[in-house]
Amino acid sequence: MVEDDLVPASIGFARNRQKSHFVKEPELRKYSFWGLEILTKVTPDIFPPSCCASFIVGNITIFPGEKVVDVGTGSGILAIFAAKKGGIVSATDTSADAIAVAEKNAVLNNVKLSLHKGKYFAGVNEKFDVIIANLPQEIVPNSYLKSVGSKLSKTIDGGKLGNKHVLKFLELAKNHLHKDTRIFLPVYTATDYASTIRKILFHYNARLVAFENISTKEFVPENETFFRSLNERGKTRIFKKGKNWVANVYLFELTPKNRD
Ligand SMILES: C[S@@+](CC[C@H](N)C(=O)[O-])C[C@H]1O[C@@H](n2cnc3c(N)ncnc32)[C@H](O)[C@@H]1O
Repeated sequence: MVEDDLVPASIGFARNRQKSHFVKEPELRKYSFWGLEILTKVTPDIFPPSCCASFIVGNITIFPGEKVVDVGTGSGILAIFAAKKGGIVSATDTSADAIAVAEKNAVLNNVKLSLHKGKYFAGVNEKFDVIIANLPQEIVPNSYLKSVGSKLSKTIDGGKLGNKHVLKFLELAKNHLHKDTRIFLPVYTATDYASTIRKILFHYNARLVAFENISTKEFVPENETFFRSLNERGKTRIFKKGKNWVANVYLFELTPKNRD
């Protein structure tokens, strides 16, 4: 059932757009991945799926019956995809709004998700076959954080170097691994990606599954001098393609070290 407070569906991901990433009105979006349709309600108080979610979905493998957790689920899009592939799926998010929307989206898509409000692995104590985490991973200027307000800030702000949540996640994930667990983690070069990759390689075996250029969010062109200086100091890798600023996103599949 589609609720009637929703404006007409927008289909697919708008690439290279520089308008606000967040929505002003509730929207219903329809995505198609590998022939699987996903309906996603998004509301003004949550993080709407971006092209990073599409990139992740396009490159991960989930097998029927696998136990999956989606950390930082937002609208639930990655969790719903995993459930449609036959996974038994849990998902967490710090935002009560996101959990409520993901719950509705699970119903819209006729899948079952076990949802938990809280940080990282809150409420899920077990080990998983697959862990997916598209956590906030951006260096966001204070002016932008103020303009979107504290709720939305928490959905994108990765701290001063953009990778604080990912670094924490890499530590905590170790408590949820068995020897064959696969972690799918995007690493975004508009952050201190070198430190992230260093930590990944210290703790895990890593396989680069895919990489892509994606447009930065609107606050990058709006704060060009600041981002140019980060780039020049070697902290980030962003570059201009035509009129747009873009960054790379690398999708890694991590497995535990010492698997024998
Ligand atoms: C970039 S959005 C991604 C949402 C969704 N996974 C997707 O791909 O569209 C990050 C999400 O992580 C949530 N979040 C932020 N910090 C978190 C934390 N410490 N633990 C769990 N979720 C967190 C935010 O509320 C937000 O919904």
